[in-house]
Amino acid sequence: MNFFDQIKQDFPMLNQSMNGNRLVYLDSAATTLKPKSVIEAVNKYYNELTCNVHRSIHSLSEQATILYEQTRDTIHQAINSKHREEIIFTKGTTESLNLLAHSLGDHVLNVDDEVLLTELEHHSNIVPWQLASERRKAHIKVLPINDSGELILEELSNLLTEKTKIVSFSGISNTLGTINPVKEVIRIIREKSNALIVLDAAQMISQVNIDVQELDCDFLVFSGHKYYGPTGTGVLYGKKHLLEAMPPFHGGGDMIDQVSFEKTTYNDLPFKFEAGTPSIASVIGLNEAFKYIENIGKPKIKEHTTQLYSILKNKLNEDEDITVHGPSSNQAPILSFNIKGVSNQDLATLISMDGVAIRTGHHCTQPLMKRLGVSSTARVAISLYNSEEDIEIFMKSLNKAKDILS
Ligand code: ALA
Repeated sequence: MNFFDQIKQDFPMLNQSMNGNRLVYLDSAATTLKPKSVIEAVNKYYNELTCNVHRSIHSLSEQATILYEQTRDTIHQAINSKHREEIIFTKGTTESLNLLAHSLGDHVLNVDDEVLLTELEHHSNIVPWQLASERRKAHIKVLPINDSGELILEELSNLLTEKTKIVSFSGISNTLGTINPVKEVIRIIREKSNALIVLDAAQMISQVNIDVQELDCDFLVFSGHKYYGPTGTGVLYGKKHLLEAMPPFHGGGDMIDQVSFEKTTYNDLPFKFEAGTPSIASVIGLNEAFKYIENIGKPKIKEHTTQLYSILKNKLNEDEDITVHGPSSNQAPILSFNIKGVSNQDLATLISMDGVAIRTGHHCTQPLMKRLGVSSTARVAISLYNSEEDIEIFMKSLNKAKDILS
């Protein structure tokens, strides 16, 4: 058995069938499956350690707090943040971006200021900034993409002005899999403006090693559940002095220093941004996800998934009725396509009967759909637990569905 066939045994979901067939899970850009070690850590917390963190003095709470804080240490080391308190736990990328749009947006945006986004963005990296811009009477500007789904970098300099206060962009497109030239984008932004830089790493976190100090982004956000961890976990990284200057997002327990009806003072980082009881079990589970992937190594995973992606792309390109969207290089193993005359929803429903799970729709990127001239795509997202056999089953099922639907 080769290494990646063996890997499948770490993921209990792959023992499941869907509609009577072996599950072929090709929807990892929506959420990844979870390895046993993550599930066991979550179960252990509920079976043996249930209690709250940071509050009580009893031994259970001490133990749970240590485990919870160990996840922060792991992520601090994994993304090489300068300080551990620069790692804030949230519910996911969406909450991290909403936190930023409120606490940072409301703090730095003034009338006629600009927030620069890109045409590739997920709705969670558009709508929070729109809401902030409405509150602050600022404006959204958009860096366009070319026909291959790549950012037009030549336009970036022209779009940056002294009014650009925030640039927020994704490292990898969740719809097209485009790997953006993050370092180059950041270099241009730094050269041409004083804008603060937010990097949406929701897809990037599972594909490449990230070093926030080397990248020199001001903020970075991602979800734990797209990185083999439990749902309900997310991270906001921010440079310490910027986080310290920002007002809190949610008010409540743990984020305060002193409360009176006249005035409240706030806790230090990271707690200032972690109001209320956090997703304790899930954060503890997330530590195991980081350990699991670090043990294998992202370059090894990349080699495997890139190979499967190429096999899939070549097969789809053989069919004249199929349009594959996205760039020809610098591509994560996320592939969007359309079949002439075939409804994506019908396609997904039919292949689901064969046990194949993909996502169809606008993928929370309606402006990108408009740019591509389609209302939806079918999307295959490959991960480390996929195999060549999965691609074969998918292709067989796709061709069968195509015959029925076209
Ligand atoms: N953002 C996730 C996706 O792209 C849900 O499917």
